[in-house]
Parts: sequence; C-alpha cells; structure tokens
Amino acid sequence: MREARGLAFVLAAASALAWGSACGPATTTTQNGAGGASNTNGAAAGTAGTAGGYQRKTKPQGEKVYIGFSMDTLKEERWQRDKALVEAKAAEMGAQLDVQVANGDDAVQTKQCDNMLTKGVNVLIVAPHNGEIAASIVEKAHAAGVPVISYDRLIKNSDVDLYVSHQVEKMGEMQADYALKHAPKGNYVLIGGAPTDNNALLLRKGQMNILKPAVDGGAVKVISDQFAKEWKAEEAQRITEDSLTKTNKDLQAIVASNDGTAGGAISALEAASVPAGTVIVTGQDAQLDAVQRIAKGTQTMTIYKPIKPLADSAVESAMKLAYGQPIDAPDKVNNGKIDVPSKLQEPQAVDKENLDATIVKDGYHKCEDVYKDVPSHKCATANVDEKQGVEGGGPKTFVASSLAALGLLLSAFAFARSR
Ligand code: BGC
Repeated sequence: MREARGLAFVLAAASALAWGSACGPATTTTQNGAGGASNTNGAAAGTAGTAGGYQRKTKPQGEKVYIGFSMDTLKEERWQRDKALVEAKAAEMGAQLDVQVANGDDAVQTKQCDNMLTKGVNVLIVAPHNGEIAASIVEKAHAAGVPVISYDRLIKNSDVDLYVSHQVEKMGEMQADYALKHAPKGNYVLIGGAPTDNNALLLRKGQMNILKPAVDGGAVKVISDQFAKEWKAEEAQRITEDSLTKTNKDLQAIVASNDGTAGGAISALEAASVPAGTVIVTGQDAQLDAVQRIAKGTQTMTIYKPIKPLADSAVESAMKLAYGQPIDAPDKVNNGKIDVPSKLQEPQAVDKENLDATIVKDGYHKCEDVYKDVPSHKCATANVDEKQGVEGGGPKTFVASSLAALGLLLSAFAFARSR
C-alpha cells in the first residue's frame, strides 16, 4: 500500500510537471533597456506612471483589464486565426476584449480606435493598415494614458510601447535564400506586398540582402520588381502575366511575399500552361490553399509563422502594461522615431519535404486537408503535437490529464485500503 501511495504521489507530481510544461509560459521573462523603462516607469498598480513621455494609467492588480484589438483586415486566413487566438487568450486571462476590424480603411481604423478609447480600454493592440497613419492612434491613446501594442505590423514614427511580430526581414531572406538555392540563375520576378505595410518593405529588404550579390554578379536577372497594392492576388497575377510576356515564358523564380500573392502568380503560370513546379514560387503564412499547393507541387515553399505565440504574447503583454508590470521584450526595432521594445517570433521555411514535420505535426492544418488533392498520401493518425487552433489541447495536455486522473484514482484506492 505504501507503494501504491508512493506511486500515486509520483504520478500526481509527474502530472503536475507535465501540466506545467504543457500550460506554463513558453519562455522566461527577460528584459532589455526599453522593457526596463516600462518596469521603472510602470508605477505601482493603481497609480499612474510616466512612460515614453506620457502619463500611463495603470490598473490595480486583480482588477479586470479591458483590451481593445484593432485589426486592419480578416481577408487572409491568418488574421482569422489571430482574432480567434487573441479572443481565446483574453478569455483565459480574464480580460474583457473588444475586437474591431477596419477592412483596409485608415479612417475607419482611426475611428474605431477613438471609439474604443472613449469606451475606456486600458490597452490598445493595433494591427495597422497603414503604419504611418496609425502613429496618430498612438498619440491619441497616449493622451488618454493608454499604452499601445503594435501587432504584427510596425507602427512607424511614434512612441508605441511594444511591437510583437515575427522576424520579418529574416522571412524575406528565407524566401530569397530558398529561391536562390533552387534556381541559382535566371529570370526572377519579385512581388512585394502593400507598400503601406512596413512588413512588405522589410520583406523586400531581406530578399535583397540575399539576392543582391547574384543580381550584381549577373546570375539573376530581375524581370519585375513591384509591390502588390493591398497584398492583392490579382496584382500579383498581373505582374506575373506581364513578366511571362516579357520573357516569352522564361521565368525561373517568383519571389512572392505572401501566400495570397503566390496564389495570384500561380494562376498566371497555370493560365499560360507553364508546367507545375518548373518555376520556384515562394510564399508566406502557410495558409491552407498554399500548403495544398505545396503538397501537389504548384507552389514551392511558404514561411510558417505560428500565430499562437504571437497572439499569446500580445495579450500577456497587454495585461502587464495595464498593471504597470515589466514586459518581456528582448528585441528592439527602430520605427523612425524610437527603438521600439519588441518581441519577435521565429519563422520557419516549409516545403514539400517538411510539411508533415511542421504544419501537420503542429496541428496547424489537418493532414487530410493539406493532402486533399494528393489521395496517394497516407495520413498517420496520432501525429499532432500542439494545437495551433483555438481549442488548445494536444497530446501533452492529454498526457497531463491522464496522469492526473490516474494519480487521483490511486490516491483514492490507497486511502480506502488504509481505512
Ligand atoms: C502579414 C502577412 C499577411 C499580409 C497581408 C502582412 O503584414 O505579416 O502575414 O499575409 O500582411 O495581410
């Protein structure tokens, strides 16, 4: 019986550990100078502190935090995921959340933020449509003592409190690097995103970091180097059609900045009967139609950016800013005015070779969905590591719960035997 009790204890402890690793914070909190500024300036909860030149209002610890999330768009699948995951995290942390979507209209986005400030949000999380125009949102929020988190896209020329995103310039480098490895010479088409989105500019910077030597050396000839307004697939299609005409269908790589523009480029290739897979096409977002194209071989690669760590970091940081606590911001990104304390997540290049080991394994998309056009592909059953959707869970949580249940059962058994 002592063994039974001992075993019960071990199982309960193991389950607690497994639970902790499944649900605990993914990283420990580190602080840099800028994060420190929020620490020293973030005054005791319930009082106001001075941060970035404004009087920041803070909430007493334990009081409900009210967060406003201003989104540019829900057009790309990833933004729907962002919305759902921010909602889930806010609910988990007991915060009240207001989500507003501007549908690509700057005036609407500004107005929605004004309204949320009037309603009394404690923190604003903003995914700006136009990084320059959104600076006025930061100004108004600060005038009301409300901190602002720049989400995914950088708000330029402002004292924005925190930037949470992925390593965008590195993603551009990964796209170009992939293209260059698979098509070391030939005719290239570069399709950027919306010129009003700082991410589009950073991606292009990253792409050129890699491509410039090959262009200067003459191995790579850039046939077209344009930005697609509003990240529109149709723009990408038009750019690709023009390039096909110009080269008499002799293209080796299309460095498309996201999956939407990759889709447009591929439509143009298909319409011109260019055989699938003969032109390298990059992308970004790992959205379902793109990974399906990768599985069947029409798109070559994408950049996989798990959204859950981004959404979680935004909401966790919002809570900390509201309570005047230090924020986890190990990186810095200059926005033209200041070095913005930043937290940037790691992206990953995905192609046919590692689709299963990344997107499928993480549960980002279901295997059957990814391979819907490739019936010969066999999907294993228990191959999901971590839910990237809203539901949470996954095997780690399952193991933790099972161990906890078993531990409880054995404790009860040992207790009954001891009486
Ligand atoms: C995001 C991409 C997205 C694009 C279009 C960018 O700022 O980082 O994930 O595909 O906007 O919405």
